[in-house]
Amino acid sequence: MAEVKKKRDGFGSKLGIIAAAAGSAIGLGNIYRFPCEVGENGGAAFLLFYLIVVNLLGIPVMLSELVIGRRSQSNSVGAFHKLAPNTKWPIVGYIGVLCGFLIFAFYSTVSGWTLEYIVKSVTNSFHGKDLATIESEFAAFHDMGWRNVMWQGIFIFLTGFVVFRGVQNGIEKTAKVLMPLLLGILIILGIRSMTLPGAKEGLSFLFRPDFSKITGKVMVEALGQGFFSLSLGMGVLITYGSYVKKEDNLTSTAFSVVIADTAIAILAGLVIFPAAFSFGVKPEAGMGLVFNTLPMLFNQITGGYWFCLIFFVLLAIAALTSTISLLEVLVAYLSEEMLLKRTWATVIACAGTMLLGVFASLSLMSETPFALAGHTVFDMMDFLSSNILLPIGGVLIVIFVGWRLGKQKFFEEVTNEGALKAPLKRIIFFIIRYLAPVAIAIVFISGLIK
Ligand code: PFF
Repeated sequence: MAEVKKKRDGFGSKLGIIAAAAGSAIGLGNIYRFPCEVGENGGAAFLLFYLIVVNLLGIPVMLSELVIGRRSQSNSVGAFHKLAPNTKWPIVGYIGVLCGFLIFAFYSTVSGWTLEYIVKSVTNSFHGKDLATIESEFAAFHDMGWRNVMWQGIFIFLTGFVVFRGVQNGIEKTAKVLMPLLLGILIILGIRSMTLPGAKEGLSFLFRPDFSKITGKVMVEALGQGFFSLSLGMGVLITYGSYVKKEDNLTSTAFSVVIADTAIAILAGLVIFPAAFSFGVKPEAGMGLVFNTLPMLFNQITGGYWFCLIFFVLLAIAALTSTISLLEVLVAYLSEEMLLKRTWATVIACAGTMLLGVFASLSLMSETPFALAGHTVFDMMDFLSSNILLPIGGVLIVIFVGWRLGKQKFFEEVTNEGALKAPLKRIIFFIIRYLAPVAIAIVFISGLIK
């Protein structure tokens, strides 16, 4: 154990932790899953509830995870062993590890698609095609099950390669440079999308709420999307928190990440919905919403070839900085708790994910054996992890900090032992202790009953 400790890697700078945490948060969840969720759950009403969730609950849950990580200097399971020895609390860490496998398994399917779309961009394959052709090619691609699996395997391998090289070299450098670039390209695409004919309808779908659409299901989906998008509830930020230096400001890190993540999600909405309404893609189109609307948008833009290529490269990298964080949870657990060498931990975690992931990918073929009552394995993994395990993890994490770790230790961590003021610490602790557990539980239970 002592040897493992000595080798513990860390983030090199303050921007490092913000970039890495934002890199984990910003990914397919913002650009692909968020528009799907908004589209399938009635538009603006969902967005409104989502914004409440991420602002009111996202920051306290994120801060709780960072506090647990930095205080314990441990992976997501070891953290609870250290802070609450001889209790059942480490179960929270195990839920996170399980959840990490599940999310990585289906997330790598969609990540693989970004590689296919890079190839399509390079070969200018969308040029001059109409919506019907682009849609049927997307469906045909799903039916090539093993091609999906191949890209998924390549993506998992790439993730393993970066994680293998270690925290500082791999994660930090990748995230720092490319996230701002993604922001820039989304702004340009958003402006073009909003100036398309018929774009207004898309904007009102996104921003004019119809409150009758807020149902139990919409609330659970928004809660799940909030946790998923911010990478909360499964120990990513416990693990990353353990690499953060004692002088870093945890509260401002949490705020920065939540603001950046929300901004990118809303920007993605501003790119997708005006364009979708303009081209006649239905908001409930699910996977096709992004993968069919965007090529149509690129066809309308001067220099569309380059925009398309750069966009899919950036999307792949955004997905990569998220899969890196998922894999890092698994590798930190396997290497520190199971005492495996980091190399072996990486190989085993990648192989396990691949094994599960094959089912997720093959379940999207039209005649798949991997579906039950119309629900694909892909959907089941997504639902179980995002809408069930992440909120359960989140609730247990805030209960842990609010009631077991306690106010004094929480204040010590967020003020860096008194060096910082952290003026919001009282109100945030109040939310952690009382409001967040009750709110998450109510939304979660009422949604499940419905
Ligand atoms: N937050 C990532 C995204 O929005 O794409 C996905 C994700 C990464 C979810 C890590 C959960 C997680 F632990």
